[in-house]
Amino acid sequence: MSLTTKTEELEASVVRSGDGPMTTDQGIGIPHTDDSLKAGQRGSTLLEDFHLREKITRFDHERIPERVVHARGAGAHGTFQVYRPLAEYTRAGFLNDPARVTPVFARFSTVVGSRGSADTVRDTRGFAVKFYTDEGNYDLVGNNIPVFFIQDGIKFPDVIHAVKPEPHNEIPQAQSAHDTFWDFVSLQPETTHHTLWNMSDRGIPRSLRMMEGFGVHTFRLVAADGSTRLVKFHWKPLLGVHGLAWDEAQEIAGRDPDFHRRDLWDAIDRGAFPQWELGFQIVEEADVLAYGFDLLDATKLLPEELVPVQRVGLLTLDRNPVDYFAEVEQVAFHVAHVVPGIDFTEDPLLQARLFSYLDTQLTRLGGPNFHQLPINRTLVPVSNHQQDGIHQHMIKDRRADYHPNTIEQGCPALSPDGFVHVPAPLTGYKTRERSETFLDHFSQPAMFVESLSDPERDHLTEALRFELGKVTRADIRERVINDILVHVDPILAEDVGRAIGVEVAAPSEPRRAGTGRAPMSPALSMVNTPHDSIATRKVAVLITHGVHSADVTALQEALEPSGAVVALIAGSLSHVVGDDGSIFVPTASFLTTSSVLYDAVVVPGGADSVDALSHLAVVGQFVRDAWRHCKPLGFAGGSASLLVAQLPARMSIDHPGVAIQDPWLGVVESDVVDDTFLAQFQDALRLHRAWARQVPDPIPPVARTRATAAKEAEPMANA
Ligand code: HEM
Repeated sequence: MSLTTKTEELEASVVRSGDGPMTTDQGIGIPHTDDSLKAGQRGSTLLEDFHLREKITRFDHERIPERVVHARGAGAHGTFQVYRPLAEYTRAGFLNDPARVTPVFARFSTVVGSRGSADTVRDTRGFAVKFYTDEGNYDLVGNNIPVFFIQDGIKFPDVIHAVKPEPHNEIPQAQSAHDTFWDFVSLQPETTHHTLWNMSDRGIPRSLRMMEGFGVHTFRLVAADGSTRLVKFHWKPLLGVHGLAWDEAQEIAGRDPDFHRRDLWDAIDRGAFPQWELGFQIVEEADVLAYGFDLLDATKLLPEELVPVQRVGLLTLDRNPVDYFAEVEQVAFHVAHVVPGIDFTEDPLLQARLFSYLDTQLTRLGGPNFHQLPINRTLVPVSNHQQDGIHQHMIKDRRADYHPNTIEQGCPALSPDGFVHVPAPLTGYKTRERSETFLDHFSQPAMFVESLSDPERDHLTEALRFELGKVTRADIRERVINDILVHVDPILAEDVGRAIGVEVAAPSEPRRAGTGRAPMSPALSMVNTPHDSIATRKVAVLITHGVHSADVTALQEALEPSGAVVALIAGSLSHVVGDDGSIFVPTASFLTTSSVLYDAVVVPGGADSVDALSHLAVVGQFVRDAWRHCKPLGFAGGSASLLVAQLPARMSIDHPGVAIQDPWLGVVESDVVDDTFLAQFQDALRLHRAWARQVPDPIPPVARTRATAAKEAEPMANA
């Protein structure tokens, strides 16, 4: 089985506009489609115009219900290949044969917003992968955050109703920064961990290609001998994990609402195929409670420092869809789609999901036969006694549709090697109690906050200030600080509380200490993911007539072979003539683009060009925004004056104690673009952002102020 198999299988359903002349849905040729059939040139339209009626009817019914959650998404085809046989853990065929190339389809999504909402909103991202294996379809339906809001699926409608637009006015769209969401959080401490991840930079990814993915639940792997182990699934992006700045994310939402969708599409189109390694954290069944928390609790993660992630295979996305609706919209993922060798656990969140997906898809995709849609079809033959239903595509040639039967000679025969549920022992009495082992809601959020780098912690503080600052009811703000955040991290609570008018009260009960956490988990910080490549980073090079041609060429020749994308930005789309007469064709103009759409900005030298650019307000904004958003900046031939003119005046005076230590961090300057310039610039680009350059919030965080004060006190003590 190979990718070609699924591609070819899909190809059979592809219809191209050049495949034949225009017809109605009944195949009747259409010679004229621009005027309806009327009683005379200026007369009423006639009911018998079947072409008009069909055309309008079909248009009227083009929309299907959007997903009730994860409505906005982008998808791509690709392959998965395991590195080595994993027979000691699982009998799943696609995880045992390194030679086997398993076709996949992946869909990434936001959770909250409607189909037409913007890509860069603060939210969890769905990360769903359908493996078309030779034992049937396996769906790994995960998120880019390793924990979930709630522990029991019965709370899913509650948390989603809380975070979706408010019911009376349907405001706000695709935002958690509103009263109902934070009301729920303030009353439901189990939401704390996921909420803090959402408020961190994980909630505003730079790219879908630069996100981790997590299966979230603990699943079971089943070996051929029937032995089982618990597993946490991970996707590790080869490009590392990187975020946007919040201000930038909001601006992108206006400048290019399709930013993530476009980024995924363009990368695949260019041949820069996104890749992730599949990771396993394996735990013996007996150790389900060995790590200080319950592995059945989806609000907890298993620190990688306690159980390392084994990298077991490679996912590559290498083909864009042909038809968004047919593929990305109609794809139907379901956690219940498992193959022999992978099984469920008793996690009550997972158990509810096992019901929900098929149920919702019956409505969304209009009946029980959507598994026959090309994108959902298995590569293996499907044979059973399921019958009829709306949109049945199969013509089943049989005389008996039940089991057992003699009339069809017992067919279809049972599959002796098929899926058998693990005979996991279950004991208990009927109850709606929450397990004691699920009740620690603050230790792991504390570990998460403590594991963040300083800039990440600052971003988290600012995000909480923003979100809670939008909450209009004071009692909700008060509860989030004093019932939730103070139990996680009193300094964080104070930092946020001061900005939203809430005094921190001493926690009424001490935090349940020590359970389910390493003191720190460095793996949780995005800083500790790969920063070793400039591949697919977008660099805006600002040019106009008289630009030093050698600078532009040097940039292109150095950056493009490493996979970076160099975009020439000019005042218009007309050709630009360099100082040696070279002609440059701009990629985009200042009229339509903005620095928020790039990872870095360079202004090459050339006296005339630098002078002309310095008179354009839009260029000032370009440079200022790139600086504010901590992006690498390069200036040649004296063009750094453009930045100097844009730096906020009296920065350190405005923010005593939290001055930006080095406003030139990540900024490279030189007379010409030479090897040193290029090396330094690429180093800055590899690091993604110089976050330490960030202009602090007007209300400096307590943590920083204290740290700075301590530093200032140090020399005095020495003296
Ligand atoms: C660990 C927790 C969860 C994760 C990681 C998760 C992930 C996802 C993802 C990635 C999708 C989008 C699938 C796609 O691209 O088509 C999705 C859709 C959905 N999820 Fe979840 N989800 C979780 C919990 C739940 C729970 C607890 C429920 C309900 C009890 C639920 C109900 C749904 C529904 C109804 C959809 C829409 C499916 C469709 O219309 O095709 N999810 N979820």
